[in-house]
Amino acid sequence: MSTLKILFGDITKADTDAIVNAANPKMLGGGGVDGVIHRAAGPKLLEECRKVKSINGIRCPFGESRITSAGDLNSKFVIHTVGPIFRNQNDSARVLESAYESACILAIEYGCESISFPAISCGAYGYPHEEAARIAIGTCRKFTRLEVKFYIYGEELFRIFQRVSNGT
Ligand code: APR
Repeated sequence: MSTLKILFGDITKADTDAIVNAANPKMLGGGGVDGVIHRAAGPKLLEECRKVKSINGIRCPFGESRITSAGDLNSKFVIHTVGPIFRNQNDSARVLESAYESACILAIEYGCESISFPAISCGAYGYPHEEAARIAIGTCRKFTRLEVKFYIYGEELFRIFQRVSNGT
C-alpha cells in the first residue's frame, strides 16, 4: 500500500527516487522551484535538459513530463513536469491532472518506488490553491505503487494540502 505524505519544506532536501520540478515548456530552468532545483542540482542538470529533444524550442508541452538524471541532488532522477498557466488555459484542471499523472507514470516506468512533488502551478502559474491541492492529491493517490511526498513551501498552502489530504 503506497503512502502519501504532506511535508513542509524545501524539495531539494527530498530523499525519494525522483524529484519533480515545476518546469516550463522550454525546460532550461527558470525562477521559483525550477530555479532552486537547478541551483541545487548544479550545471549537469541543465546539460541533461539540453539533451531532451526540442521542437521549436519546446522540450515539454503543458501537462507532460520529461525525465533526466538528477545532477548533485540526492535522488536518482528529476522529472520535469509542466503544469498549466491558470490564467491562459480554459482546460487547466485537465492539464494539471495530466501533469501529475504523467510524472507518476514516468517514475514507475523508470523503476522509482518514491517520488516528491512541489505544488505544481501554485506559484508563477497562478493556479488557485484549493483546487490545485485536490487535483494533486486525487491524481497521485491512484498510483498505489508509489510512495508520494508533497514538499510544500508556504504555511497557507501547507495547511490546504494537509486538510485536503485528510479529507476534511
Ligand atoms: N521547495 C518546494 N516548493 C517550493 C520551493 C522549494 N524549494 N520553492 C518554491 N516552491 C513552491 C512555490 O512556493 C509554489 O507553491 O513551488 C510552488 C510552485 O511555484 P513555481 O515554482 O512558481 O512553479 P509554477 O507555479 O508551476 O510556475 C512554473 O515558474 O519558476 C518558473 O520556470 C518556472 O516558468 C516556470 C513557472
